[in-house]
Amino acid sequence: MRTLAIVALLGVTHAHYTFPGLVYNGVTEADWAYVRKTTNFQSHGPVTNVQDSQIRCYEIEPGSNGAKTMAVKAGDAVGFRVDGAIQHPGPLAFYMAKAPAGQTAESFSGDGASWFKIYEDGPTFGEEITWPSAGLKEVSVKIPTCLAEGYYLLRVEHIALHSAGSSGGAQFYQACAQLHVSGGGSKTFSGVSLPGAYKASDPGILFQLYWPTPTSYTNPGPAVVKC
Ligand code: CU
Repeated sequence: MRTLAIVALLGVTHAHYTFPGLVYNGVTEADWAYVRKTTNFQSHGPVTNVQDSQIRCYEIEPGSNGAKTMAVKAGDAVGFRVDGAIQHPGPLAFYMAKAPAGQTAESFSGDGASWFKIYEDGPTFGEEITWPSAGLKEVSVKIPTCLAEGYYLLRVEHIALHSAGSSGGAQFYQACAQLHVSGGGSKTFSGVSLPGAYKASDPGILFQLYWPTPTSYTNPGPAVVKC
């Protein structure tokens, strides 16, 4: 019994995760078929240095690395299967970046101030702080209805805050899917660079999760765009 209890505990403390499977129209696609394969595809471990180029898409090789592009409609929900589950506490966010003219979702590196945030969640405060993504095995976001047609990268990001009370302790889990968006509007958004958008000292990254129990949380990065 004691062994089982210890194993169960390790399962919780080492509950890293990846986002390998794109989910669209009720179909969960094969791992890395539409998501750029991440360096942690086996370890499931995080990035902890916000200045590391891996903070962007966590690519095991630069570029699409064999991933294809999913055609989606603006206004539809697009999701990611979580390998494992989101078992660390912290905020979930989605960013997009539009490929410049002449490039595709597969050729676009995501360089430059191209990343705009389309979603972020925040915690509920009580005797302890709780997060909407806790335990999820799939996460999804609505593609903004106003987006201009084109090729995009869609980046999912979960920041685990259980060790974030010291600098460099926050854990970043992210991946990028390749999309072609149509049926939207004509809106384009400027954005931030990744890396570049975050500092280790940002209040949502250097964050004491436990005691005294937090009563507010400030998501790092830019504000969510509005159509
Ligand atoms: Cu972990």
